[in-house]
Formats: sequence, C-alpha cells, structure tokens
Amino acid sequence: MRKSVFAVLAALLLCLSACREAPVQESDNFDELIVVGFSQVGAESDWRAANTKSMQEAFTEANGYRLIFDDAQQKQERQINAIRSFIQQDVDYIVLAPTTELGWDTVLKEAQNAGIPVIIIDRMIEVEDESLFTCWIGSDFRREGDRAVEWLEERFGEEPVNIIHLQGNIGSSAQIGRTNGLDEGLSRNSNWNLVARDSGEFTQAKAQELMRHYIDLDFNVIYAENDNMAYGAIDVLKEEGLTPGQEVIVVSFDASRRGLVLTLAGDISFNVECNPLHGPRVSAIISRLEAGETPTKFTYVPEMTFSSETITQNIIDLRAY
Ligand code: AHR
Repeated sequence: MRKSVFAVLAALLLCLSACREAPVQESDNFDELIVVGFSQVGAESDWRAANTKSMQEAFTEANGYRLIFDDAQQKQERQINAIRSFIQQDVDYIVLAPTTELGWDTVLKEAQNAGIPVIIIDRMIEVEDESLFTCWIGSDFRREGDRAVEWLEERFGEEPVNIIHLQGNIGSSAQIGRTNGLDEGLSRNSNWNLVARDSGEFTQAKAQELMRHYIDLDFNVIYAENDNMAYGAIDVLKEEGLTPGQEVIVVSFDASRRGLVLTLAGDISFNVECNPLHGPRVSAIISRLEAGETPTKFTYVPEMTFSSETITQNIIDLRAY
C-alpha cells in the first residue's frame, strides 16, 4: 500500500516538474526570436494582400522571427505612430512599406538613434540623409509606366488616343512613376489627349465612382495605375454596355492573378507586373545583416509585362499571387 502511494506521489512530482519545464523552454526560444516590426500601407488592393501574406509567411516563429504587424489604413500618420511603437518595444528590425515618398526624416532619425535598422520595401522614400535606412527593395515604377506607354504607342500609332487616367495615392512612388511615364507619353505624342485624371486611391470602389462620373466623356483608353482600379473601371464599362478591349482599351499595373484572368479574357489589354513577394527577400536581407554583412542599398526586382494577345492559362496557373 505504502509502495503504491509513493509511486503515485513520484509520478505526480515528475509530471509537475515536466509541466514547469515546458513554458520555461518556450520563453527561452521566444527570447531567441528576431523581432521585426512591419508597418504596412493598408489593404487597398490584391497586390497589398499578397505582399502582407508574403511577409507573414516569411516572418514566422518557425523561421526564427516574431512579427509585429501594423496596418496603417493608407495613412502616413498611422505609420509614423507604428514606427514609434516599434521603437518603444525595442524591435530588432523595422520594415516599412511607405504610403508616400516624403515625410519620414524625423521618425527614421528616432529609429536610427535607437540603433534599429530600417528596411524599406515596395515604394521608395525621399529623405535628406540616406543613412536613415539600411536598404530598399521594390519596383521601378517609372519603368513600369514607360512600358505601358510604349505598348500604347505601338497599339495606336497615329490614331487618336483619348485617355482617362486613374491615379494611385498621390505622392506614392507607384503613382509618381506611373504618372510620369504617362506624362512623357502625352508630351511626345501629339495624337494623345488627356481627357480626365483623378486619384482612385488604388481601390476598386473609388475607381468605380470616378468612372461613373466620366462615363459620358469621349475616351478610348483607360490608364489605371493598378489592377483594382482597372476592375472598377471595367465594372462601369460593362454596366454601360461597352466592351473593354474593343471600344475602350484598358491598361493596368500589378498583374495579380485576377488581373491576369481579366487580361486573358481581353478586358485588360496590357498589364505591367509589379511584384509583391518581398517576404523572402527581406528575410534574406536580415540574414545578411545578422551575419555582419552589408546588403545592397537599392534593389529593383525584375518584372514582366502581359498582353491579352500573348498571355496563356498556363501563366495564370503558375501565378503565386
Ligand atoms: O506600391 C505598389 C502599389 O500599391 C500596387 O500597384 C498597388 O496595387 C498597391 O496598392
């Protein structure tokens, strides 16, 4: 009897000590994780959702990271607050996908004073002192605009081109580069005419609103600065009984999966890729920094273009976003 009481007590003690050990081990591992604060622009587009997913999949505990994610709902002020909160939490790295190019000097100086490296992704920033960020990786938005313009020049030649221009968020590199590309096209083609231009804020809803307003104007091209705005424009064209790809040519940017489906269908005639898969790229940059190496300061990611005449279902099936 006494033996079995001892046996039960011993088993209980063993179990208690095992139960105590588990959380201690977990918190040890937790301390070893690299803490990354990521300030994301928002959730305005398919591109943005793919970018967030790419970051969340790369920065997992299984990969040795703790990710603190903040969605700024397209507001720079919220991004500045998020960065300050990352500094207070003493994160190891800050990753910033900036809303706009300007206005980062003060808060990045605060991060620098706290000794926290800042990696910029997607859009570019313009600061007085480039030592305020460690490096940047993203798209050549001006090149993207140029490629769309070159395609339009080929497609229309000397024919009249009357353009409705749906811009992204004003002041973002994606808007500035793509708008500058179009402006260059307008200035070198006397048969091109800008019928209307306004910001659809990279969203389908805002683009629909603008297009309902513009629908009675005389136009044959929509230059939408992202796929989601192209979806909004196409919705309105179809509501009005117009056929995109025939009466109206739609040019778009991003080449997300849904954008490519619409390209194959002929609704979008030309789509310029903007690659959102930055998670593994940023993780590779952090690995280099952890190893004491210096990553390349500016890296443009390679990007492609797709036209409704050349795209295939196979390309869509292979699309990761
Ligand atoms: O900065 C990248 C742009 O931002 C993408 O073209 C757009 O879809 C996103 O919201």
